[in-house]
Amino acid sequence: MSLRHQLSNGLTVLSTNASHAGQLEELQELVFPNLSEAERFRAAHYCKHIELFPEGQFVVVDGDRVVGMTTTLLLPFDPSHPDHTFEEVIEGGWLTSHDPAAKWMYGADVGTHPEYRRRGIARSLYAARHDTVRRLGLRGQVTVGMLNGYGAVADRMTIDQYFEEVRAGERVDPTISAQLRVGFELGPLVKNYLSDPTCGNAGAMIVLPAEKDVPFE
Ligand SMILES: CC(C)(COP(=O)(O)OP(=O)(O)OC[C@H]1O[C@@H](n2cnc3c(N)ncnc32)[C@H](O)[C@@H]1OP(=O)(O)O)[C@@H](O)C(=O)NCCC(=O)NCCS
Repeated sequence: MSLRHQLSNGLTVLSTNASHAGQLEELQELVFPNLSEAERFRAAHYCKHIELFPEGQFVVVDGDRVVGMTTTLLLPFDPSHPDHTFEEVIEGGWLTSHDPAAKWMYGADVGTHPEYRRRGIARSLYAARHDTVRRLGLRGQVTVGMLNGYGAVADRMTIDQYFEEVRAGERVDPTISAQLRVGFELGPLVKNYLSDPTCGNAGAMIVLPAEKDVPFE
């Protein structure tokens, strides 16, 4: 079943289809400029994701323009064993670790075009994902959020100190704080999760249980 949800700001949340793949490749480069090539999705990867798990792929469009995106897969994730890497999850971008019988929706990424931020796009993408979580009877959403504000202060503190300040609510991180606003619960720091100096190569595990409500706006 494909999703189409109109937002009050005129934007639309849609299930991703193959016609979005080219724009998604471009949006990846804009949203994740520092990720290594091996960690970035290309058009062919998107076509594979749609084939593997169509219920977990969403875009937000402004007319025909793709301005928001998210990619997910199902994994038998154990939140009490957080250590893993992004590369292990995405399998060269193809998501072949997707397990249709697994009970957790794993968020491989979410991104909003820089000109469209703070208009509720990420919130609506997480809501679309949650719709699938509930329809498929999953336990919830899990992911490792990038600590994207760390790069700006990396000369002054370690990633552990930065994470502790975000956890204590003493520091706002542009990515993790947004995810917490949507309802994610903060888990442990996951070091060497991916290779991006902007976030000290680290992320924070975050979980959004199926029981929590995630409205589109
Ligand atoms: C993180 C990101 C996806 C947020 O997208 P967005 O569409 O701007 O987010 P939304 O407008 O839906 O905001 C959701 C909530 O987070 C808050 N928020 C968004 N950006 C924030 C920021 N920079 N600092 C603090 N809070 C923020 C919003 O206020 C909103 O909460 P509210 O509704 O209670 O006010 C976007 O900044 C992005 O693409 N960043 C780069 C890529 C990235 O880090 N992706 C995630 C990888 S794990």
